Amino acid sequence: MPAVVLVGAQWGDEGKGKATDLLGSSVDYVVKFNGGNNAGHTVVIGDQKYALHLLPSGILSPGCVPVIANGVVVDLGVLIEELDGLESRGVDTSKLVISANAHVIPPYNRVLDKVAERFLGSRKLGTTGRGIGPTYADKMSRVGIRMQDLYDESILRQKVTAALDTKNQVLLKIYNRRAIEVEEVMEELLRHAERIRPMVRDTALVLNEALDADRTVLFEAGQATLLDVDHGTYPFVTSSNATSGGACTGSGVAPTRIDSVIGILKAYTSRVGEGPFPTELHDDNGEFLRKTGAEYGTTTGRPRRCGWVDAVMGRYAQRINGVTDFVITKLDVLTGLEKVPVCVAYDVQGVRHDSMPVNQSDFHHATPIYEELPGWWEDISQCRTFEELPENARNYVLRLEELIGARVSAIGVGPDREETIQRFDLLGRDS
Ligand code: GDP
Ligand code: IMO
Ligand code: MG
Repeated sequence: MPAVVLVGAQWGDEGKGKATDLLGSSVDYVVKFNGGNNAGHTVVIGDQKYALHLLPSGILSPGCVPVIANGVVVDLGVLIEELDGLESRGVDTSKLVISANAHVIPPYNRVLDKVAERFLGSRKLGTTGRGIGPTYADKMSRVGIRMQDLYDESILRQKVTAALDTKNQVLLKIYNRRAIEVEEVMEELLRHAERIRPMVRDTALVLNEALDADRTVLFEAGQATLLDVDHGTYPFVTSSNATSGGACTGSGVAPTRIDSVIGILKAYTSRVGEGPFPTELHDDNGEFLRKTGAEYGTTTGRPRRCGWVDAVMGRYAQRINGVTDFVITKLDVLTGLEKVPVCVAYDVQGVRHDSMPVNQSDFHHATPIYEELPGWWEDISQCRTFEELPENARNYVLRLEELIGARVSAIGVGPDREETIQRFDLLGRDS
């Protein structure tokens, strides 16, 4: 049975949560391998709407084991809040396992994330302010705190004390903020430690044994390709590897065990926070996409920047992730447009680029070269087969498929789990 990675192909919010949930009943494990509560996934099941941040979307599927793997950064307060919130709505969360090697977001990193952004002023990145960047920086600097440290109080105190030695200097002397006490950090970190203890495991072992036993494992990325710290629009990125390679380092499952990669591509593009965005629309069309697509952040509530679909980016995402199957989401949002433009290449100071420019400054100055496809007016939310779609909607999907270099296996025509067209089996059971 397969190990499948699911990634975002743009700047996040492509509808990864819905796609994961859709597959949830057919998979045994859903693994979050990167990021933390900077993610925001909305999943709609009938009249119930769930907003998930830290927990993998698979938690909503009974029978599926949700896994928070080593590549994730965990805010313990958010973890408890999300678990309690779901339990109170009748969702069984008892199967959750968390890696002993996952890093914890200590309170000082939330403070540092926010004050650093304020300090940057107009040069800010527009982070979610959840302490993600400082916690990954600590991990790389080898001064981070891991889940397993919660169960050795003396080691934990030593680590917190060492971290605060420098963090407090920065807070006091650079940002003019109050120092943070060791005991206040210890109290927050240990508050729920005993409740969490049974969940903390060697998740790499759990997952490899699951694959040995022919179980199906789905690796669900937070964020997306262009927000990846190595392959995204650096520095306007998050601080983890959100591309398919991150699924291996972030979980301890080797590349030789991965069978396929699903790329989630929204039928248009959105971005939250700062950074370049060639197809961004500042006109009525942008407003149309934001309103019709309800493009307001699940995590911060910020209005998302919107623009047309960018096939150059789609091709890039296909290459970087090795996408075998795309899911095109939110096709319904484009209904009612006379023409639907698709960015097929960029013009950078008179030079045509068919792939992503090497230099970030060229990307900043890229002007989209559009191909305009005829739109459709029919309500497509009831369509359940590709053939039921209006001809122009079908042609839009087929043209995108040609441009992005991998088959389109499913199409989203509405937010509900049911509002999906499946063309090919996403778990490879038909190939
Ligand atoms: P994620 O971060 O990639 O999981 O995506 P978000 O949940 O942040 O944003 C996607 C939004 O689009 C959510 O509100 C979903 O309910 C919604 N959504 C997902 N797929 C579709 C679709 O095919 N059509 C429509 N109209 N909405 C969708
Ligand atoms: P999902 O999983 C969209 C963006 C932030 C900011 C940048 C860095 O829902 O697709 P961070 O707090 O991570 O240091 O912020 O990354 N960002 C996202 N944008 N969707 C997300 O997650 C995001 N997670 C982070 O807005 O620009
Ligand atoms: Mg989101």
